[in-house]
Amino acid sequence: MPLLRSVRGLFKRPTTQNWQGLIPAYRRWLPVSDATPVISLCEGATPLVPAPAISERLGRGIRVFLKVDGHNPTGSFKDRGMTMAVSKAKEAGAEAVICASTGNTSAAAAAYARRGGMRAFVLIPDGYVAQGKLAQALLYGAEVLAVRGNFDRALSIVREMADQYPVTLVNSLNPFRLEGQKTAAFEVVDELGDAPDWLCIPMGNAGNISAYWMGFKEYRNAGMSRKLPRMMGFQAAGSAPLVNDTTVEQPDTIATAIRIGNPANREKALKVRQESNGGFAAVTDAAILDAYRLLGREEGVFCEPASAASVAGLLQRADEVPSGATVVCVLTGNGLKDPTSAIDHSEATFYGDLTPDVATVAKTMGF
Ligand code: F0G
Repeated sequence: MPLLRSVRGLFKRPTTQNWQGLIPAYRRWLPVSDATPVISLCEGATPLVPAPAISERLGRGIRVFLKVDGHNPTGSFKDRGMTMAVSKAKEAGAEAVICASTGNTSAAAAAYARRGGMRAFVLIPDGYVAQGKLAQALLYGAEVLAVRGNFDRALSIVREMADQYPVTLVNSLNPFRLEGQKTAAFEVVDELGDAPDWLCIPMGNAGNISAYWMGFKEYRNAGMSRKLPRMMGFQAAGSAPLVNDTTVEQPDTIATAIRIGNPANREKALKVRQESNGGFAAVTDAAILDAYRLLGREEGVFCEPASAASVAGLLQRADEVPSGATVVCVLTGNGLKDPTSAIDHSEATFYGDLTPDVATVAKTMGF
């Protein structure tokens, strides 16, 4: 296989040895030059973990892998985009960045901006950001503005702010974000030796699905892979503007990361679906939580609820997966981001208030 790979590829594939972040690893595919100050936390090179329990559920020789992007420095795929967006902002002389966020973007923007010596302003929907993400933004030294309104409202404010004031927008409308995020597709192909048949991914603003598609296409056009995947995008049923081709005024889901009613990258996402012969579908919160628990209990992988939408979607569409296919589900964020959801929905056994002696513990354990 390694021989075949090196013959097929025109360019050398990076390895994870001496990994120094995705900009050095994929420099020739990215819009950077020697003049770009690289602001990095050694993001990227996240594991592609086989998912035997899910593969077995699907049967028919289907192989499922999890792209665990929660292994990034701030615990989500946003770091891939942020190393690019913040490096380019620094190159352009910016002194401050701004974003609207359901949490992960704010954590990544804060970490990278502060590392680059810039101020980070983050607007969040008050009361709808998971605890770990808020903790990160605060600890990294962001200036956090919680607005009474949802993500969509916050995004429209920061767009105007970036137009009128000297602050650089680092939401996925910033084209450098998607350039950085496309490297996840490169990594998947580098690991598998070709693109998967299906790529399952949660959608909020639909930046990430657009970035993956860009990456898969660039790699295939350069001879680094033979095929292109079908892009399967999943949204929470209470927050599914792309699936239902509408705008949702009051999006509602337990998966707060994708609680978005008016996706910023709508047109791009529709194009991805069409070009890739892909599909979009809604998954209920109950199905998201089932997948969330399944990943934890049977695969040993702890992701946040929004990420589990990719697996919920795959299980829902299982009958359509061709026999023998290779499927990659993108797990966008780390489970520790949202401890409240885990504690509230694990359905695990918890015995509290025990007398601290062996007899009590043994009896409780059923011995
Ligand atoms: N999964 C997680 C964990 C996310 O945080 C997000 C988006 C998505 C999926 C969806 O990605 O927007 O590119 O389609 N989070 C943004 C934020 C909105 O502010 O952190 P998308």
